[in-house]
Amino acid sequence: MKLAVGLCLLLTLLSAYYIYIPLPSTVSEPWKLMLLDATFRGVQHLGHLAHHLGLSHYITVLNFAVMSFEILAPLSSENVRVSDVMFDKVLVRVFEATKLPSKDLKRSVIYIHGGGWALGSARMRSYDHLCRKMAEDMNAVIVSVEYRLAPDVHFPEQYTDVYVATKYFLHPNVLVRYSVDPDRVAISGDSAGGNLAAAVCQQLALDHSVSNKLKLQALIYPVLQALDFNTPSYQQNRDVPILYRPLMARFWLEYLNGDIGFIQPLLVNNHSALELSQATMSRAKLNWTSLLPSNFKKNYKPVVQTIGTPRVLEEVPAFLDVRAAPLLADKGVLQLLPKTYIMTCEHDVLRDDGTMYVKRLEEAGVQVTHDHYDDGFHGCMIFGIWPTYFSVGVRTMTNYIKWLDQNL
Ligand SMILES: *[C@@H]1O[C@H](CO)[C@@H](O)[C@H](O)[C@H]1NC(C)=O
Ligand SMILES: *[C@@H]1O[C@H](CO)[C@@H](O)[C@H](O)[C@H]1NC(C)=O
Repeated sequence: MKLAVGLCLLLTLLSAYYIYIPLPSTVSEPWKLMLLDATFRGVQHLGHLAHHLGLSHYITVLNFAVMSFEILAPLSSENVRVSDVMFDKVLVRVFEATKLPSKDLKRSVIYIHGGGWALGSARMRSYDHLCRKMAEDMNAVIVSVEYRLAPDVHFPEQYTDVYVATKYFLHPNVLVRYSVDPDRVAISGDSAGGNLAAAVCQQLALDHSVSNKLKLQALIYPVLQALDFNTPSYQQNRDVPILYRPLMARFWLEYLNGDIGFIQPLLVNNHSALELSQATMSRAKLNWTSLLPSNFKKNYKPVVQTIGTPRVLEEVPAFLDVRAAPLLADKGVLQLLPKTYIMTCEHDVLRDDGTMYVKRLEEAGVQVTHDHYDDGFHGCMIFGIWPTYFSVGVRTMTNYIKWLDQNL
């Protein structure tokens, strides 16, 4: 506790230098966002320093800071039983609603937390709070997957952990153990967790060894592609906290185990240049000039290179792997997907990843609810509790749970 308080003070002092940044007037509670952003940026600077001094990996420092405030033991309450268990070698935290015990089978959501495939935990206070609330509000069973993170593991391990845990849970014997209705299971996640949820949902639809299929997928400001770092939302929000373009590019490189020196080529789209024929098919699937509505496109111009940097795709072919970038899936796969909820935020570089997926799913005949927040910023849904309370955090969480409740 003393450590947390000390760290908090230190971070606050360091942050004082960084606090003021100009923000769009339409963003929810700008001054709070500035404080949040300054703290996060302070930690990132510390991380860079430690990394350059050879003291620790950059991501390890970030994760230490994120987790030292927020790790919780599995605490059951009157209405929710919480347990940390293994699902086929993958740790999960299960939240089981216990109020109104009935013989009726319960509904269930498999939840994948966000954090750039590198940060966060199912045991973090914010995610524990979210899953607890979902279990309670919906009288449901929530399975929050504690998949392994970068830099300890890289793609496809994060994806595989989620896949393995999901498949294990969908086994009829396991569903019976938790009194879950096999026809009413959803998968969901935010940010990188939305990426993993979308990828697992696609691959499960193709897996003939799984008899129980998912009823819904719900993706909260998901990351879905890494071939275009200059979509209108990447261009528009390049200076908006808390997810800046270079950090997103870095998360991708940490996930796919690519050279960190590739950040600059990624940011100018050198890795998906026209002459790189292996990317041609994939590029067409995220052509935002045809996939986005005009109020998102505004006057932004596509950034397309001719020659670019061929070494990126040669060394990191996973940029084209649909399990890493679910937006690249073929229409034939999208057609197999269940009813979908996608939430996007205006002040988020990833707004267009989610919005393009909405359009592609609709074109494939999938029923989609697109919830867009004009005052939302990346990550806002987990900022609904003290000390990081935002009104848009509460609103997004309420509407998300309401949609699940009405559709699952
Ligand atoms: C994207 O779509 C536009 C309009 O439909 C088209 O002119 C352009 O050639 C497409 N670009 C790619 C890379 O497919
Ligand atoms: C992008 O590729 C071009 C070659 O097409 C090269 O001249 C330029 O330096 C590259 N930019 C970056 C940031 O790597």
